[in-house]
Amino acid sequence: MTTQFARQAPAVLPGPNDPCWCGSGSKYKKCHRGADAVEARKKGPETQRRGVRPGIVSPRRSVPAHIRRPDYAETGRPTRSPTLPDVQSAEVIERMRRAGKAAAKVLEITGAAVRPGITTDELDVIAHEAYIQLGGYPSTLNYHGYPKSLCTSVNEVICHGIPDSRALEDGDIVNLDITIFLEGVHGDCSATFFVGKVDPESERLVRVTRECLELGIAAVKPGRPISDIGRAIEQHAAKNGMSVVRAYCGHGIGERFHTSLQIPHYYEADANTIMKPGMTFTVEPMINLGHWQHRSWDDGWTAVTADGSRSAQFEHTLVVTEQGAEILTVT
Ligand code: MF3
Ligand code: CO
Ligand code: CO
Repeated sequence: MTTQFARQAPAVLPGPNDPCWCGSGSKYKKCHRGADAVEARKKGPETQRRGVRPGIVSPRRSVPAHIRRPDYAETGRPTRSPTLPDVQSAEVIERMRRAGKAAAKVLEITGAAVRPGITTDELDVIAHEAYIQLGGYPSTLNYHGYPKSLCTSVNEVICHGIPDSRALEDGDIVNLDITIFLEGVHGDCSATFFVGKVDPESERLVRVTRECLELGIAAVKPGRPISDIGRAIEQHAAKNGMSVVRAYCGHGIGERFHTSLQIPHYYEADANTIMKPGMTFTVEPMINLGHWQHRSWDDGWTAVTADGSRSAQFEHTLVVTEQGAEILTVT
C-alpha cells in the first residue's frame, strides 16, 4: 500500500521541528521548509497584498518652455526662504483668484474623464495638458521629486497616490488632487469621485467628507483660532462613526505651495494662530471609514489606511475675509 502524501503547503506552516505538512514523517526544517521559502519569495509580497497595488509609473512628462515654473521645477527642492507672512497683499490675492479658478477648471476636466477602465496615468495626461492649456505649471511635478502632475488616491489610499498603469474599476472611489502654479502663485483643490456604481458605505463616506470640508470652511472667521476648523470637522466625522487622518494637514499657500502654517483637521489646542483677513490656506480633510492610522508605501509617497478601510478627501484653497472665507478654487 502506498502512502498518500499532501502536495500543497497549508496556509499555516509547521514549526521547524514539527513533522512536515507533506506526511513524510521528517521534521519540517529537514523536509519542505526550504522549498516553501523559495515559493513564497516567487509570489512576493505584492501578490499577497489585498487592495490597491502599485502599477507602473510612466516617464516624466515635459512642460513647454513658455510656461513659468516654480523654483523647484528643475532641482526638486524649493529654495529656502525667510518665513513668509500668513496674510497676503490684495495683489497676491487677486492672482490667487485666477490660479484658484484655473485649478478648479483642471479638476473639473480631469474629473469628467473618470470611468471604469481608464488608468490613473491616462488621467495624468488629461490633467497635464489642461494645466498647460490654461498657461500653468502642474505644481506637484518634481515637487520634492514627486513624479506626476496630480495625485490620484484610490479606495484605501489616503493621499499622494501616484498615477500609474492601474485601471480604475467599477466600485472604486478616487480622489484627484490638482495644484496649479499660475502667475507666480499656487491654487490647490481636490475632490473624490465615484467610479461607476459604488457601495452605500463608500457613498456615505464621500458625502460625510464633503460635509466635513463645508463645515470646516464655515468655521473660518477672523478673530477665531485655526483650531475651530478641526474641531468642526472632527465633530462631524465622529458623529458619523468615521475618523480624521492626523498625519496630513491643510497648509498656508500662496507664492509657495506649502508654508509653515498648518491646519489640522482634528481638534488641536496648540493650533492657536488667530485667523486674519487676507490669510490664505487650504482646508483638505481626509476621512476614513475605519481608524485614522496610516502606513506609507515604499515609493515614499502613497499613504494608505493601516486597517485597509476606505478614505476620502475634498480640498479648497481659501482666503479669510471680514465675514468668513472666500473660496478661491471655484470655476
Ligand atoms: N496637493 C497636495 C496638497 O493638498 C500636495 C501634493 S504634494 C505631492 O497639499 F508632492 F505629493 F504631490
Ligand atoms: Co492638494
Ligand atoms: Co493642499
